[in-house]
Amino acid sequence: MKIVGIDLGTTFSALAALNTIGKPEIVPNAEGERITPSAICFDEDDAQIIRVGVEAINSRYINPARCIRWVKRNMGDSDFGVDIDGHTYNAAELSSLILKKLKQDASVDGPVKDVVISVPAHFDEVRRKATMDAGKLAGLNVIGIVNEPVAAALYYATTRPVSGKVLVYDLGGGTFDVTIMEVCGQDIKILCSQGDHALGGVDFDKKIIEFFEKAYLDKFKTPLIDSQQMRAKYEDQAEDVKKTLSRRPSAKTMLYGPGGSMAIEIQRQDFEKAIAPLITRTGMMIEVALEEASLKAGDISKVLLVGGSTRIPLVTAKLKEIFGVEPETAVNVDEAVALGAAVHAGLCMMRNNPASVPAGIAGGLRSIKLTDVCNHSYGTICARTDDKTGKRFAQNYIILKKNTPLPCELSRIFYTVSDNQRQLDITITQGEDADPDYVNVIATEVFKLPPGRGANRPVKVTYSYDVNQRMHCAFEDVDSGSRLDVELTLDKDAQATASKNENLAALNVQ
Ligand SMILES: Nc1ncnc2c1ncn2[C@@H]1O[C@H](COP(=O)(O)OP(=O)(O)OP(=O)(O)O)[C@@H](O)[C@H]1O
Ligand SMILES: [Mg+2]
Repeated sequence: MKIVGIDLGTTFSALAALNTIGKPEIVPNAEGERITPSAICFDEDDAQIIRVGVEAINSRYINPARCIRWVKRNMGDSDFGVDIDGHTYNAAELSSLILKKLKQDASVDGPVKDVVISVPAHFDEVRRKATMDAGKLAGLNVIGIVNEPVAAALYYATTRPVSGKVLVYDLGGGTFDVTIMEVCGQDIKILCSQGDHALGGVDFDKKIIEFFEKAYLDKFKTPLIDSQQMRAKYEDQAEDVKKTLSRRPSAKTMLYGPGGSMAIEIQRQDFEKAIAPLITRTGMMIEVALEEASLKAGDISKVLLVGGSTRIPLVTAKLKEIFGVEPETAVNVDEAVALGAAVHAGLCMMRNNPASVPAGIAGGLRSIKLTDVCNHSYGTICARTDDKTGKRFAQNYIILKKNTPLPCELSRIFYTVSDNQRQLDITITQGEDADPDYVNVIATEVFKLPPGRGANRPVKVTYSYDVNQRMHCAFEDVDSGSRLDVELTLDKDAQATASKNENLAALNVQ
């Protein structure tokens, strides 16, 4: 049985497995490529044929409506769906098709079952759960979820001598993450993470397409792109131009539109001007992360680059401006996350089922120590009473605070509000604010209580977050010992009603 890590990326995915001495290696796909485009294409004539990877990219000009890319941007979004032949595919189902291909291609010399899948550090519970669901649908046993920058750092720190505070700057195809950690040899402590799930290479491609469209409209007075097919073609062409601009000061290409054809040359400095606000946004997130870790730029001893978009020279220039030193390009920016996820899978196996880990692999992993943190604050909505007016109002009470080292478990006692209160309307939240309107509701449940009791009966609320980045919430009626364990699901309507609810668990304020 292989020990496997999967980087399920917005634009590219990769799979790595541990070798006999516990070192991670990329497993090439059936086409012999080390990374697989995260693209899916449903055949027009035969519903049984679903193409994934480079085949999907190549066939998407024929019918772009049946081809899907960048699905990770919609992971966990209950409003997202793609209708194909009478079935609406959600993001987890679509992602499972990518995972299935990775699994199949890597299974030639032994089955792939137990895996760790990486996610952006800032992914919330709903997106993490959707990622796990995608794994399950693909027939995988998801033994853990790891944050992408943590995986990259794990690979980095386990392949070369590192010490000090390291900042991982991960700019991929669709997402941006920054993570600060303290590394001493193979002892890695995560301090904090920040990120944006809609900032990446795809946004830079869009800027290049805008250049194409403007130049064409100026010359021919007619729009360049008049169909989905044309858009698909120019998306690829824009990506090529963008990559050329990482190597050269200018890039030329041809535009073929309804008014005629034209050559266009784009200067790197114009491209840089167009993407500067986005790169500045990444700089602002670095500042927030430094502040969260109570550090200054000068305290960072190494900046590690991860993600294909870090090849853009403006990224390096920006980081040099902030930190005064060249960022580290020691690891392969496309592969480090999958490689680190495989190491993480090994660590999970050692923890959960050490007997199943072959001695050679165990020997390779034994000295690695990883301390991760909780990426968000988690709380519950409770009723409080205004001291002056005596009026009751809803408040978000944080139980687990962001950046608490994992694993962690915290309990709080809340009290029922009214006599003969027969139920608690439970709302589990994610977010930093005390105002329920400014946090995300990640689950709602009803907890039934015994009859005939007075008010102010204690309810113990316990939130725990395990090293696999999964959260569990337990609500216990202390008198009767009855208990409710909460399943985490997104309930959009709950957000609107939570703050209006009268029957909430009340926090004793005396
Ligand atoms: N030389 C280059 N110059 C600029 N951009 C590049 C270069 N090479 C790759 N990229 C961009 O990097 C992105 C892919 O990076 P990567 O594989 O790290 O992302 P991903 O893992 O798919 O996405 P994410 O981590 O955001 O989910 C693409 O947008 C691609 O165009
Ligand atoms: Mg990535």
